[in-house]
Amino acid sequence: MKPLLIAGNWKSNKTTADALRWLQDFKNHTGTIPTYITVVLCVPFTLLYTVKEKIREYSLPIVLGAQNVSPFPEGAETGEESARMVRDLADWVIIGHSERRKNFHETDDVLQKKVEQAHLVGLKIIYCVPDDRTPIPAHVDVTAYEPVWAIGTGKSDTPENANMVVASIKATSQVKRVIYGGSVTTANVASFVGQPSIDGVLPGGASLDPEIFAALITNAR
Ligand code: PGA
Repeated sequence: MKPLLIAGNWKSNKTTADALRWLQDFKNHTGTIPTYITVVLCVPFTLLYTVKEKIREYSLPIVLGAQNVSPFPEGAETGEESARMVRDLADWVIIGHSERRKNFHETDDVLQKKVEQAHLVGLKIIYCVPDDRTPIPAHVDVTAYEPVWAIGTGKSDTPENANMVVASIKATSQVKRVIYGGSVTTANVASFVGQPSIDGVLPGGASLDPEIFAALITNAR
């Protein structure tokens, strides 16, 4: 079996109470996850500590990720979380999600700085790109191909086209692992991870409900 990465992205959702309920329910609904599947859960900064503690307490088979990191080192940057602070709690970080590129005007240059900061402290990096032409900085561990029109719309790319774009990203960059994001569901996950070039998925909406997320992991097997 090829290694698979399933990275749930809660985006800007959930209070502490919501997260605690999710973790309890996920514990009840998830079985043993085979070792070839790595499940990363990317949560808002406000929930990193709580989720980290509960992953340990419940021995959940998931690793923790953040959704952003400062392009600056630790210092006088009000409102930013430096890579060192993020690394204190998380193992992974998403950089360059299309929502950040669009709504927060993050450019390739800024994203390059974020990758450098994250790499310096040993965070594993999921770097999102909308196509196979967007530059991918060095030191990215996993790239996520997410066509902008497929995110949060219920309209996923076809597995065959996603596979072609993913193969092209691998052929034109240094990146060895590429996952697909954009309206991944329990119903379509197997068709994406069954493609030869696709190494996993980045579900947003489908990670918000613990039962659905657990089913999605089961269906990816
Ligand atoms: P979605 O989000 O699964 O809700 O479409 C995907 C993404 O953000 O990559």
